[in-house]
Amino acid sequence: MIFYFSGCGNSRHVAETLAQGLNDTLIFMPEATREDHYNYTLAEGERLGFVFPIYSWAPPQLVLDFVKKLQLAAKPEYVYFACTCGDECGHTEKFFRKAIQEKGWELSACFSLIMPETYVGMPGFKLDTEENAKKKIDNADATLERNIPRLINKEQFSEITVGSFAWIKSHVIQSSFSKFALDDSKYRVTEKCISCGKCVEACPLKNITLDDGHPKWHGHCTMCMGCYHHCPVNAIHYGKATEGKGQYYFRKS
Ligand SMILES: Cc1cc2nc3c(=O)[nH]c(=O)nc-3n(C[C@H](O)[C@H](O)[C@H](O)COP(=O)(O)O)c2cc1C
Ligand code: SF4
Ligand code: SF4
Repeated sequence: MIFYFSGCGNSRHVAETLAQGLNDTLIFMPEATREDHYNYTLAEGERLGFVFPIYSWAPPQLVLDFVKKLQLAAKPEYVYFACTCGDECGHTEKFFRKAIQEKGWELSACFSLIMPETYVGMPGFKLDTEENAKKKIDNADATLERNIPRLINKEQFSEITVGSFAWIKSHVIQSSFSKFALDDSKYRVTEKCISCGKCVEACPLKNITLDDGHPKWHGHCTMCMGCYHHCPVNAIHYGKATEGKGQYYFRKS
């Protein structure tokens, strides 16, 4: 069983590839949370997997909240996570390990996949070039191909790109990110909006409704940037920070 979260499609791609390679079931954590569904039963020896993006050098809070509430009929034998990031994960492994240890479980394996950047909500943050994004996806696919047999064999391993100054990033910057950067009141829509509703569909938290044909944000945002990247006419902006930055969405439809 694989529990996953994804805002812009990178982690969904990883979760789907793992589910296919491991012949496992996929469960989208925001949907399970909405349905208040936290009780699951694994088959004998079944692996328990988690897939999510890195937000400010840590797992997204909604993932940690879900893990806390998750109830299994029996202690899982093999637990792993795969996380996707733009370049580095900081102390994600420590945070995740602690979250599952608090439940009396142990982490058997984890790995990170460097994938195209999605965060453009502050000055200085920008997307990868198309060429670089493609290279990252090709490398991530090769890592998945290499790691699927290791998960099948239930190997113990840890392959996380921690990066530099991890403590400062995962604690000091992370805590100010959680306090100040999740503010969806800075989202705005321009006159380019064609009222297609794709931003509503793209929001994993169902935080957007159309009000007179234009998106309205409702204050429970995880800042995945899915609405911004998914708009077919680039009509959504986050203050001034996103102006001229372009869009990215894994296999944008
Ligand atoms: C709010 C936010 C914060 C992010 N923080 C980090 C980070 O600390 N380190 C990093 O390498 N990438 C970071 N990223 C990039 C994403 O982790 C990366 O692009 C990921 O693959 C996106 O996954 P998704 O497409 O499944 O949403 C961040 C992205 C967002 C939206
Ligand atoms: S409102 Fe936009 S950024 Fe916030 S959770 Fe929904 S899609 Fe993601
Ligand atoms: S996706 Fe863009 S064009 Fe479509 S309703 Fe939302 S803001 Fe308007």
